[in-house]
Order: sequence, then structure tokens, then C-alpha cells
Amino acid sequence: MINLSKVSKSYEGPTDGEPLNVFQNVNLELANGSSAAIVGPSGSGKSTLLNIVGALDKPTSGLVTVDNQNVPELTPQAAASFRNTTVGFIFQLHHLLPQCTVLENVLVPTQAGHTKSVHRGVLNQRARELLRAVGLSHRVQHRPGELSGGERQRVSVARALVNKPKLLLADEPTGALDRENSNNLVEILLNLQKENDLTLLVVTHSQSVAERMDQVFHLEDGTLRLQK
Ligand SMILES: Nc1ncnc2c1ncn2[C@@H]1O[C@H](COP(=O)(O)OP(=O)(O)O)[C@@H](O)[C@H]1O
Ligand SMILES: [Mg+2]
Repeated sequence: MINLSKVSKSYEGPTDGEPLNVFQNVNLELANGSSAAIVGPSGSGKSTLLNIVGALDKPTSGLVTVDNQNVPELTPQAAASFRNTTVGFIFQLHHLLPQCTVLENVLVPTQAGHTKSVHRGVLNQRARELLRAVGLSHRVQHRPGELSGGERQRVSVARALVNKPKLLLADEPTGALDRENSNNLVEILLNLQKENDLTLLVVTHSQSVAERMDQVFHLEDGTLRLQK
């Protein structure tokens, strides 16, 4: 599903300064339907790596293929479609729209051109099924402000899956949650992964979250190593 070969990333430094080399020659292979965690210190480039896989950022060099698509070479339009339909994103902060209900928030990714043709009733039903799967059937008409932190993050999981992606990318999804909500969220992610045959790539600070994944990679000092 994911194949990174000799991927390097650097950012331009300030004028006539040194460029910032984030990581070099990263190789990563992830089979269809498998799960992996990326751990490593703050600033080591975990988010940058995840963003490159999700076509939110481009590598300086190297090959990135996801679902047989050459990700850095996608046209802007193809990249937008890739981000909307092939990939689902979950971030540390849920980024829910406060003025919209839970159900409306889950449906936001279906407003983009790529899924507009699907019948609204079908999408509505799918959103409700996902909200049931994350244990929020009783909260569909609530606003995000009326939910707990754990519940909000579960809404963002449902939102990430509404367009039936093949790959789920999660950047510190439990970073703002206490231990109980964190365990609960990981349980939900792993159940949904199995049910939907998803590939799951999670960036996390939490060793206990990382250990639940099939593979664990450690990113430090510009190098990615397989830890488990
Ligand atoms: N757009 C950017 N421009 C310049 N430097 C950046 C940019 N984004 C991230 N960085 C730098 O790249 C490094 C890796 O950042 P990041 O991927 O966010 O790390 P992590 O997610 O592991 O904490 C950091 O030193 C950060 O300051
Ligand atoms: Mg980060």
C-alpha cells in the first residue's frame, strides 16, 4: 500500500543560511491492511513524513507510492482527489466545525467534487453507521462544544472514514486525550481498520499506542529504523 524509497526532506534555511535537513534516505514499506506506528522525539520529522505520504507536503528527493500512485508527481487536482478519497486524516486537534452538528461534521469531506455524485441519503446513512461504530449514535445532533474531548476525537475518526479511504493517517490522534480515552480510541481505530481492511499509519508519542500496531518505526536524527 505504502512504499517509500530513499526519501529525504530538507527545508530552505533563512537567506544564505544552511538548509534544515529533516531526514535522509527513509525507506518504509507497509502492506495492504497492516498497521504501523512512527515514534520519535519532537521535531524529528514525524509529521513531515506523514504529510509526505498524504500528499500534504513533497519530499526533496526519493520515491513515494501509495496505492500504486506516484504521490509527489500527482497534479494539484489529482492530489486533492487523492487526499479526499484514498486517504483519511486524523490530527491531534479534531478541527471540527463548531457551528455544525456532529452528523454535518462527519459529512464535510463528502462536499468535495470527488464524492458529490453519491446520493445524499446513502452518505447520510454511512455517516450514521460510522457514528454508531465510534459509539456516538446518541450524539448525532449535538454540536462539538457539547461533547467531551474523547467524543470529539471519535467524531473526527468517523469523518476520516466517510469517503471510504484505503489508508488512514493519524498524527498524534491521542495526544490530547487521557489514558482511558486514548485506549478507547485505539481500540476503535483497530476495529475499524479490520472491518474496512484499512491500512493504518499512526504518529504517536505513546509507547502503549505504538505497541498495538503491527510494526513500529523510530525516527531520530534524520534516520528511520524498524523497532518492532
Ligand atoms: N514548513 C516548514 N518550514 C521549515 N521548517 C519546518 C517546516 N515544517 C517543519 N519544519 C521543521 O522540520 C522539523 C520536523 O518537524 P515535524 O515534522 O513537525 O516534527 P515532529 O512531528 O516529529 O515533531 C522541525 O525542526 C520543524 O521545525
Ligand atoms: Mg508532529
